[in-house]
Amino acid sequence: MLPLRHLLTPVARGVTAAAFLLAIVGCAVAQNEESPLSNDGGGATAVALFSNLNAPALPGKRGVANPRARLGTGPAVWETLKNSTEIFRVGGAPPCPWETICEIPDGTTPLDTKELRARFGPTNSTWLHYLSGNRMIDGQQVVDAHAVPIRYDVRCNREFYDYIAANPSKHPLYNIEGQEAARSDPKFQFEFPRNATEVKAAWKLLKKGEDDSRFWTAYGAYYDDDGKLQYSKIALTAFHIIRRDQFGWIFTTFEQIDNPKATYTYFLQEKQEAVGVNSTLNPEAAKYNALIEKRFQGTKWQHYRVMGWQTEETDADGRPVLLANTNIETYFPKTSSCKSCHAMANIGPNSNRRLNMWDMSKGIEGRVGNVDFQKIAKELAPGELFKQTDYAWVLREAQSVHATGQNKAK
Ligand code: HEC
Repeated sequence: MLPLRHLLTPVARGVTAAAFLLAIVGCAVAQNEESPLSNDGGGATAVALFSNLNAPALPGKRGVANPRARLGTGPAVWETLKNSTEIFRVGGAPPCPWETICEIPDGTTPLDTKELRARFGPTNSTWLHYLSGNRMIDGQQVVDAHAVPIRYDVRCNREFYDYIAANPSKHPLYNIEGQEAARSDPKFQFEFPRNATEVKAAWKLLKKGEDDSRFWTAYGAYYDDDGKLQYSKIALTAFHIIRRDQFGWIFTTFEQIDNPKATYTYFLQEKQEAVGVNSTLNPEAAKYNALIEKRFQGTKWQHYRVMGWQTEETDADGRPVLLANTNIETYFPKTSSCKSCHAMANIGPNSNRRLNMWDMSKGIEGRVGNVDFQKIAKELAPGELFKQTDYAWVLREAQSVHATGQNKAK
């Protein structure tokens, strides 16, 4: 494998990321033309995604790396990607232009960096993250040492954004009506372009004076339980990155190293036990984490680790591949398969908008192993037309043009 030093430069110079991914697994590709991602199972790709997306961003441009900036300075490239709230907007309105910032759904003009800094002190990243959720996909919560729930944002890159904002089919995929038109158009299948990338990040809200020496920090905005907009200094505890290449999606997930003892399960409004180590940690991860540690020595990113990666629903022996993040899929690691559950991302008719991601014959358990979506659709809703949305669940955040109110609909 090439030393990591080489991994960053191609993208920074503007070479397409696809060529870059091929470059990093070049020798493996020569032997096997089938899938550059699965040749080493995806570990090298996970490290490359981590490196490229955590590189410093070019000021004033969203989603572009600044090759001149020092590693470990912020904001990182991925933080500047488009928040899902900027794409799936109140009342199904079109996404705001790529470079425009419109993260806060009700259109409030947020505090500026100077004001945030005056209130909360300096941070690694000056980006203000609008955190749209404080619940996980199973409706549950995971909390920090002060029993305050972890919050989340979802971000999409330019390729993903363009596909939704200006789809060649002309269907406005950013609202429910456009998605419905796409569903009922026999010529239309959801398929994101190569290099479409999404990040889902988990953050804790920092208290004044709380030790953040091992965390990537930024600013956060969120609505509290009374619907009031609040601000905070925030610390990154975990993140997912997914990316589509010509062969399909790679799913990867990362955690801050203190999570096992520093984040807690939550039940009946009470903090319970610490989440503990990630039971789905890939045994191959250690060698890739050594690369991350070396590359990011002396920066906050040295305290983050890849937990695993997934390009297939089953392994070579046909056994389900499991992968979970302790801060994002806290309560069902034993039935968490990124790819199997995202294979369920779907859209149906107005009367039955979405088939359940959970296998309800078993309660709240994730689907694992191979998912035959059309077979499941036939069983659950015979005679109705359902389409997969190419592994992107985030499309469910779209609102109707007839709806008003905050961007919280699912
Ligand atoms: C049991 C189902 C399930 C599992 C398992 C799961 N996810 Fe998701 N994931 C979802 C749903 C539902 C959402 C949508 C959240 C929303 O509406 O924004 C989501 C959101 C995401 C997003 C934001 C973008 C998008 O279009 O959905 C990313 C990235 C992501 N998941 C990655 C992963 C990774 C990586 C794993 C495995 C470590 C994983 N997920 C495991 C159901 C799942």
